[in-house]
Formats: sequence, structure tokens, C-alpha cells
Amino acid sequence: MLLLKTRNELFDFIQYIHAKKLTLGFVPTMGALHEGHLSLFKKAIEDNQYTIGSIFVNPTQFNNQADLIKYPRTVEADIAKLEIIGCDALYLPSVEDLYPNGLECESIDMNGLDVVMEGAFRPGHFQGMATVVKRLLLQVQPTRAYFGEKDFQQLQIIRQMVKTLQLPVEILGMPIIRESNGLAMSSRNMRLTEEFKKKSLFIYQSLLKAKELSSHYAPENVICKIEKLYLNSDLKLEYFTITEEESLQTTQSFDPSKHYRAFIAVYAGDIRLIDNIQIR
Ligand code: PAJ
Repeated sequence: MLLLKTRNELFDFIQYIHAKKLTLGFVPTMGALHEGHLSLFKKAIEDNQYTIGSIFVNPTQFNNQADLIKYPRTVEADIAKLEIIGCDALYLPSVEDLYPNGLECESIDMNGLDVVMEGAFRPGHFQGMATVVKRLLLQVQPTRAYFGEKDFQQLQIIRQMVKTLQLPVEILGMPIIRESNGLAMSSRNMRLTEEFKKKSLFIYQSLLKAKELSSHYAPENVICKIEKLYLNSDLKLEYFTITEEESLQTTQSFDPSKHYRAFIAVYAGDIRLIDNIQIR
């Protein structure tokens, strides 16, 4: 696998891809790769003639500095995993490669998708995320880019941004990969104590419960019943909500012609976990 450590090295690689008119799949990540990330790479490798990943722990999307410092950095192990599955290239940019004028976010219009859920609880997060994804897409110029539904709001914001900026890339959303017990894979899971690892299974169980309840009850009532389940739990519920999939807006009733998702954010001790499920 080619390791591209600077923007110039990336540029030479992209020139080669363009000259040969090859399709290029791109998977941006922040590293600490697990099966969830690898599922995106495997699909990209399947769909495209060349596949490139990136690892960059993006400072501007961390609203909590302690989280940025504690973010796991396992580049050697990540490289080994990508070699095994047959990824062609990995871009490892420096801060200067992506932020030549300092750590400032661009103001990117997200059509209101950024004010709810993660946007409401993590101020500035999505502007930082969108800034870096825009710059990565402009530098890498892929045919297709792959993102996980684990971060569904992020995926919808990226789709919106690509449409608004008319970037010539196809965005693909991929299903959430879970541990065998249902916990959504996340680089944060490795920071959970054994006790909270067990307790966190309740997150997916409560999402499944929400899905079941949604065939009988209105959204508001489902939300109320799920919130109640967390009253006696050691997991601290930050939000549980149900929205229409495209607009991420809450709704009074379910329209059978539309799709809906339940979204949850929970603190397991001091580790914040998010998950979601399509309920209709
Ligand atoms: P990161 O958290 O490293 O995730 C990289 C990609 O892997 C994202 O598209 C995310 O949704 C996906 N992913 C993570 N866990 C997953 C799981 N269990 N199943 C399926 N996909 C999963 O998301 C980011 O990095 C950053 O915000 C980034 C887009 C790289 C911009 O900095």
C-alpha cells in the first residue's frame, strides 16, 4: 500500500489515476480502524479500480479538547489492517496540508441539518467536520466516497454539502456494523470499562424496542416510552429522538411514504456513545 504523507505525494498519485482514467474510491477516517471502517474499505475496493483511505484526527470537529487528546492513535495497526484487505493507498496529511491558513472552519450551509441532535449537543462539530471533508474531497477527487450510517446525521450533511457545492463525487452510505451482541462498533468502545461494555448493550436493545413500538404508537409516544426506560439506568440519556430520514425533522405522525429513524446519544460513564436505527 502506498503511504502518501503530504499533499504533494497525494497530488502525484491523483495525477496517475486521472491520466489512466481509473475509478477511485475514497474512505476518510480518523483512524483506530475497526470492522465498521473496514466494511467501507471493502465496499470501495469492490466498486472501484483504486481505493484510497485517509487518516486524520481533525482538530476542528472536536468541541471537547479532552476528547481530541484522548482520541486513540494506532496508525501502525491501521496500516497493517488496510494492507491485508488490499487497499491501494493511504493519505496521512499533516494539519498544514488541510489547514494551510490555520485551524479555521469554513462557513458551510447545511440547510438546517446541523442544528438538531449532534449539532445541538456538540456546537461547532459539524462545521469542523464539513470543512475537513470538503477539503479532503477536493484534494483526493474520488469517483465515490464512502461513509457509515453509524454517523447518519454526518452522512446526510455531507450529501447536502456535495449537492450544494456541486462536487463531482458519488456519496455512498453503508450500514452500521455491530459487535455480535449488538453494540455499534466505535473507536470509543475500547475506552469502556467491562461493566459499561455490558450495560451499553441496552442502547441497541432500546432502539429495537423503539422500532417495535413504532408500528403501534405515534412518534411522540414512542419517544416518551423509550425515555422512561432510561430513568432507572446507569446509562445517562442525552437525547432520544425520531426524525424523518431526509430532513432530520421531528414529526407528529408517520407518513407511510417516508422513512424514519430513531437516534440516540448516551453517556456510559464519561464515554459518549451514539447509535441509530431505521424504524419505518
Ligand atoms: P471516523 O469516526 O473515523 O469514521 C470514519 C467512517 O467510518 C465514518 O463514515 C463513520 O460513519 C464510519 N463508521 C464508524 N463506525 C462504524 C460502524 N460501526 N459501522 C459502519 N460505519 C462506521 O466520521 C469520521 O471519522 C470523521 O468525522 C470524518 C468523516 C473522517 C471527518 O473527519
